Amino acid sequence: MTEHPNRVRVALFFGGVSSEHEISCLTAGSAARAIDPERFEVVGIGITGDGRWVRIPPAELAGYEVVDGKLPRVASDRPEAVLLRGPAGAEVATRDGDRLCEIAGIDVAFALLHGPWGEDGTIQGLFEMLGVRYVGAGVAASAIGMDKDLMKRAMAGAGLPVGPWVAITPAQWRDDRAGCLARVAGLSFPVFVKPARGGSSIGIVRVDDPDGLEAAIIEAQRFDPKVVVEQGFVGVREIELSVLEDLTGPPRVSLPGEILMHTTDAFYDFDAKYLPEEQVTLRVPADVTPELRTAMQELAGRTFAAMAVEGLARVDLFVDADGVPWVNELNTMPGFTRTSMFPMMWAASGLEYPDLIATLVELALARPLGLR
Ligand SMILES: Nc1ncnc2c1ncn2[C@@H]1O[C@H](COP(=O)(O)OP(=O)(O)O)[C@@H](O)[C@H]1O
Ligand SMILES: [Mg+2]
Repeated sequence: MTEHPNRVRVALFFGGVSSEHEISCLTAGSAARAIDPERFEVVGIGITGDGRWVRIPPAELAGYEVVDGKLPRVASDRPEAVLLRGPAGAEVATRDGDRLCEIAGIDVAFALLHGPWGEDGTIQGLFEMLGVRYVGAGVAASAIGMDKDLMKRAMAGAGLPVGPWVAITPAQWRDDRAGCLARVAGLSFPVFVKPARGGSSIGIVRVDDPDGLEAAIIEAQRFDPKVVVEQGFVGVREIELSVLEDLTGPPRVSLPGEILMHTTDAFYDFDAKYLPEEQVTLRVPADVTPELRTAMQELAGRTFAAMAVEGLARVDLFVDADGVPWVNELNTMPGFTRTSMFPMMWAASGLEYPDLIATLVELALARPLGLR
């Protein structure tokens, strides 16, 4: 690209084998349309639903959006993408039979992937092995952030406020189902039964009394053999904050945003997240007192630091009737379309979507390779 010799080449990874394939494609399309072409050259690497890596030209990627109510997916008949560790760093190539062509170096890898094999440390491990700088959390923080059991253990260990929960591994369920149910009986109802490494609320069931428990656990196991059961927070506000690493000091925390459900027993499930008109209102910034805002920003920044996250995270809180914030979860690759909470909260805080993308790439570029 002779007209922009100093552009940073950013490899966007999207799609993937998790249940959030389409959401990831939406995000990637959104990011590809917004990224500054003067400064960044995009290389599109799509991961098909069955896990193959293909090259998607930036122009095709820019067309990834909702069309006639249908979400985009990575087309599987595109040329195969190959990643290499070249003498000067990571490279991407296209496979043509038994030859490689279009070999190009990668400056930064940006995995716009949600869920297992994307947000959970696996692709981050690949980037480490390739010796390429990448956007976002490292291997350990990604893996811990993905697993709602490990995440809560780490948070509780760091003194962060998390509600009571129980984890059920496949072996425990197989060998001692009664014991699993007895542990859950120590929680008060309603409870939320979740795939431990899920996302986008897929497979999550709210259970109001013990009779529904077993079916809900079996349902969650369809998505992940490891399940968590959490004590439900009732009558809470759901408030989220966006956090960015700051190379010179403590993390930067955005203004809070609030998820307002239109009915009281509803929760922020998949339909509410992606087909939102009727069920949910996103209020950015949230209508909160300055004291609560400060308390939540402090908690979000502390969570980011305690969990050793890099780059970005969205910290999701429940605020109880006494105005006390609790941590629900940490997302190391939050929804990232232009109208997702993470970018909207930054826009409300003065950082627009294209600048947010540029900031994330710059944070990645500035990061040393290897152990940090
Ligand atoms: N312990 C809980 N108490 C009350 N509501 C909950 C609880 N856990 C989850 N929910 C509801 O379910 C939604 C999805 O749960 P969450 O743990 O955030 O899963 P995901 O990782 O899929 O976003 C939350 O946004 C909230 O509306
Ligand atoms: Mg959530």
